[in-house]
Amino acid sequence: MNFNDTQNDNSYKKIKLNLNEKAYICNKNIRLFDVIDSTNNYLLEYAKKGSIEHGSVVIAYEQTAGKGRLGRSFYSPPETGLYMSILIETTALNKEFSENPTLITVFVAVAAARAIEKKCNIQAKIKWVNDLYYEQKKICGILTEGIFNKGKIKTSVIGIGINLCTNNFPNELAGKAGSIFSCKELPDNFRLELAEEILNNLFDVVLYAEKTQIIDEYKEKSCILGSVVKVISNSESYEAKAIDISFDGELVIEHTNGQKAFLKTGEISLKFT
Ligand code: BTN
Repeated sequence: MNFNDTQNDNSYKKIKLNLNEKAYICNKNIRLFDVIDSTNNYLLEYAKKGSIEHGSVVIAYEQTAGKGRLGRSFYSPPETGLYMSILIETTALNKEFSENPTLITVFVAVAAARAIEKKCNIQAKIKWVNDLYYEQKKICGILTEGIFNKGKIKTSVIGIGINLCTNNFPNELAGKAGSIFSCKELPDNFRLELAEEILNNLFDVVLYAEKTQIIDEYKEKSCILGSVVKVISNSESYEAKAIDISFDGELVIEHTNGQKAFLKTGEISLKFT
């Protein structure tokens, strides 16, 4: 980890977000950084040492080594995005989550979509499993990482990266990375207001929501169900129809020969992505 505690002690402020009673646990430990390598790395590092609490939150204005799923990087320049991670001790959740990391991402995607809808007044769509789209471009990615014990997730670090605007994004991202605002119209405090809304929704959803309700909402918000998608899984790629999301958050696909399959992980792309 590039981050050095002593050196950076002055670079973050403790902030007080307006969190509801469900997310109150975060109030104890919210750290705000101007620059960090990766908010997920920060929490993982402390979690491995056992020195950071359930409900800890890290928010950064810039990441120098933002990470995405499948070993990709997540472009995280200053002034355009919200980059945040939340540490959750899986023992605080329903035990299904500790056996199924995909389910955590599914629940968080619904929470993030709800928060974006409320604060940004747009309908965000979900691309299985961890991306949110607006106007056919990616505006948000979610990366859930875990510390495992005997095959079960003991601690989850949930990272959420949102492109609020995309000034000066590199050309190779321009066709893929969407934005919600133009950078000029992005209000100063907006990132923290959105972070607040995400935390309020996230804890509500992971602690209290009915699974059937969340899976139904995930399906309603999906931008892939009913479409033919390209599936990239275990280094092979093929076309199939996305037909459903299972009760465990798997993508149900139908092959061209009519056979069905349940995908636990992998990557899909739509024609527009
Ligand atoms: C993806 O698109 O595959 C997931 C992207 C997740 C990015 C967020 S930004 C905050 C947190 N810190 C990271 O390094 N990654 C996640």
